[in-house]
Amino acid sequence: MEYVKAIKVSDLKNGQKIKVAIEGRDILLINVDNKFYATDSKCTHMGGELIEGRLEGSHIVCPKHGSIFDVKTGKLIEQGKMFKIRVKADDLNSYPVMLRDGDVFIGI
Ligand code: FES
Repeated sequence: MEYVKAIKVSDLKNGQKIKVAIEGRDILLINVDNKFYATDSKCTHMGGELIEGRLEGSHIVCPKHGSIFDVKTGKLIEQGKMFKIRVKADDLNSYPVMLRDGDVFIGI
């Protein structure tokens, strides 16, 4: 695994998220209580852009059909709904994050 510099620690305040492109992947970087977490940025159901999703603590809600993921682990917490029927989303990939000398690195 290789750690790649993504942003500066000061670029992302508590409760904020940002989408970064690392090694050809779109990754969502989130600051929850001043700890940084990284997951895939697209929902595993139909590719909803999680950067546009609502962040509730460590949970992010997909803007398309409402599936909920825990950004700390990438785990699916609750399936969303499409026409009142539950969708089938899977867990997100999550990536290790390392802070060093004021920079945020993501392990790929
Ligand atoms: S695209 Fe995210 S729940 Fe459907």
